[in-house]
Amino acid sequence: MATPPSTPRAVDVELGARRYPIHIGPGLLDDALRLAALAPGRHVLIVSDANVAPHYLARVEAAFAGKRVASHILPPGEQEKTLARFGELMTALAALGASRDATLIALGGGVIGDMTGFAAACWMRGVRFVQLPTTLLAMVDSSVGGKTAVDLPEGKNLVGAFHQPSAVIADTATLATLPDRELRAGLAEVIKYGALGDAAFFDWVQANAPALLDRDTDALAHAIATSCAHKAGIVARDEAETGERMLLNLGHTFGHAIEAEQGFGGLVHGEAVAVGMVLAARLSAELALAPAADTERLVAALHALGLPTAVPEGLDPDALLARMRLDKKNLSGTLRLILWRGIGQAFVATGIDEAAVRGVLARG
Ligand SMILES: NC(=O)c1ccc[n+]([C@@H]2O[C@H](COP(=O)([O-])OP(=O)(O)OC[C@H]3O[C@@H](n4cnc5c(N)ncnc54)[C@H](O)[C@@H]3O)[C@@H](O)[C@H]2O)c1
Repeated sequence: MATPPSTPRAVDVELGARRYPIHIGPGLLDDALRLAALAPGRHVLIVSDANVAPHYLARVEAAFAGKRVASHILPPGEQEKTLARFGELMTALAALGASRDATLIALGGGVIGDMTGFAAACWMRGVRFVQLPTTLLAMVDSSVGGKTAVDLPEGKNLVGAFHQPSAVIADTATLATLPDRELRAGLAEVIKYGALGDAAFFDWVQANAPALLDRDTDALAHAIATSCAHKAGIVARDEAETGERMLLNLGHTFGHAIEAEQGFGGLVHGEAVAVGMVLAARLSAELALAPAADTERLVAALHALGLPTAVPEGLDPDALLARMRLDKKNLSGTLRLILWRGIGQAFVATGIDEAAVRGVLARG
């Protein structure tokens, strides 16, 4: 699969009568008219974090000049995705006097997007919000599809709502300031789309790993647009995650357990997903559902992207398993996991034998 040249791209998310656009391209945050049109009401609350705001907040604020605008800047990091920070956003909306036609703007990575979206879902029982993702992970995954949440110490994303954004504007020029580690974490979610349902895209990502790590504009634009098209299609077919959408959680049940067990301060989300995908592949092979060779192909591709593939030292398999039992996909107390029959062939597996899962965690 060749890499098409980079031009601004658009992918629509269609949900019955509702639809919203994802715009992808360099310099979109400089388009003040496009941004201004996204907030038809009088009040705008921009939420960002302390790493992102110094680079990009001023131009976003300027786009909404003439409205009642407030900005709320949070400390960066997953450990901030809390009910307490969510409470701060409610207070900021009250201080702004935000009415039901208010718009919330999420300027940042998935942490800011998830939290701002949840605030928008709750303020006055639901107001508009717009995603301005600035990490690769947020551009390819978290900004699209309307899942919003905050974490509890007991687990990831346990408090949240489905609430779709009105638009997603992914300015790929913002990736220039993204740290390398976060770029790699985003690539884990990119290759996930190949791993779960598109073997040709998996091969393309692996073959183009050097270009992607080098931030080649065409390669990144193609990776983002293809990922968004996959996500938009899946969300359109299963918005409430009763079936196919669960496949997007490939690697996530394992990954979330690792993140929570590390107190949300160890592996970043994309890295944990990379390890989780390897564990899901290994479990699939051990249960004779998939060839072991595909696990090794996955490990090689993740290594090429500079991602971890093993459970971090010192984590207790029983503690991880206990965390996995709290996953939202589980039903009636039995584990439900995304496994695969090989690259590009993920499926939802129920009633998994816990001893087998523990074994995979222990061998890590
Ligand atoms: N809602 C969904 O469907 C969904 C899907 C996947 C992941 N998520 C969530 O997304 C979160 C992870 O998102 P993330 O990886 O974007 O993490 P993040 O929001 O923590 O961002 C990663 C780091 O990069 C910094 N940063 C962001 N953009 C930058 C830029 N352009 N330049 C410099 N620094 C920048 C941030 O300050 C942060 O330190 C997790 O909480 C995960 O649960 C949600």
